[in-house]
Amino acid sequence: ERDGYEHYMLKEINEQPKALDRTIRGRIQDDGSVSLSSFPLGAFADVSDVQFVACGTSHHAALYAREHLVEQGVPAYAFRAGEYATTPAPIGENTLVVAVTQSGETADTLQSVRHAREAGARTLAVTNVVGSTAARECDDALFIRAGPEIGVAATKTFSSQVAALSLLGERIVEDVTGSPSEGHAERAAAFRRLPTDVQRVLEESPVDRLADEYRGCDAYFFIGRGVGHPVALEGALKFKEITYEHAEGFGSAQLKHGPLALVTEDTPVVAVFDGRHQGKALANVEEVRARGAPVIAIGGEGSREVRELADEFLPVPDTHPDATGVLANVQLQLVSYHVADLLGRAIDKPRNLAKSVTVE
Ligand code: F6R
Repeated sequence: ERDGYEHYMLKEINEQPKALDRTIRGRIQDDGSVSLSSFPLGAFADVSDVQFVACGTSHHAALYAREHLVEQGVPAYAFRAGEYATTPAPIGENTLVVAVTQSGETADTLQSVRHAREAGARTLAVTNVVGSTAARECDDALFIRAGPEIGVAATKTFSSQVAALSLLGERIVEDVTGSPSEGHAERAAAFRRLPTDVQRVLEESPVDRLADEYRGCDAYFFIGRGVGHPVALEGALKFKEITYEHAEGFGSAQLKHGPLALVTEDTPVVAVFDGRHQGKALANVEEVRARGAPVIAIGGEGSREVRELADEFLPVPDTHPDATGVLANVQLQLVSYHVADLLGRAIDKPRNLAKSVTVE
């Protein structure tokens, strides 16, 4: 069942090239244009704004997707469903509410969808499970096609969510603004290359050799900008879930507004570089280095400055920033997995957690 892997999590991490291939198969044409059978050109022509509702890892995928929409001029917000269910955002006549949920059964997310429907919003589920409650209750569904995920920690479904949401986002941008997003062909090409690029990360990652060095520190911080920010949040969430070590993710810009007080020689900082905002991102790393923190940086293999600044560098293939985040996240999954494995944790069934949270 686990195909010889010690844990489902490791199996599912290694399944990502295949999962991503299924997610995008038939959905990107040779010229880079998006083709989603349920959402032809014009399907979102009257959308005024997008509200994502999601929890945990799915919320991070939503934050990731939001970056592109906002950058291209489409108003978009990513809410934590647990909070949206009690304090919903105002819904306009043409608001599209997108529920991002692997299982399609998360109570907080379903509650948000029900509120949105009542308020008159059009609803769309982005989910892995055909026939799930979210898929049935929303007006439309987009399936991420990652295949079943058994490990409690979401891995391949995050990558597939990001890829599916990027296609959906491109369709929305095209419909709302009247033209494809700037540089859409390069971006589409990068997503088509993702299965191959992820395979390279899996084959070449130095993480299993590094995990031992940073064991037993006070805390672990994850920082990033752009899509590196949701990836940092996701890296910290995965790390705390399966290692039980204290981990926090921040947007790099937040550092000097508080978290920096915690940074010492005993708090490794994992910095995610998506290739944008390089100057500012490097300056943030300088700030934590000046406090003696060991820096583990993840970024495109060609970024010499990042490599030189870091104590450890985890390279990923050079590609479009929106794909770089997915690749960086694969390195982070491996970091969490190998540290948890060294600590002998119950990787597939972490304490106190359930695969699908069906109570509010
Ligand atoms: C993290 C994790 C949880 C889920 C969250 C939402 O590894 O598994 O944070 O992401 O409970 O679940 P779904 O996506 O099924 O709505």
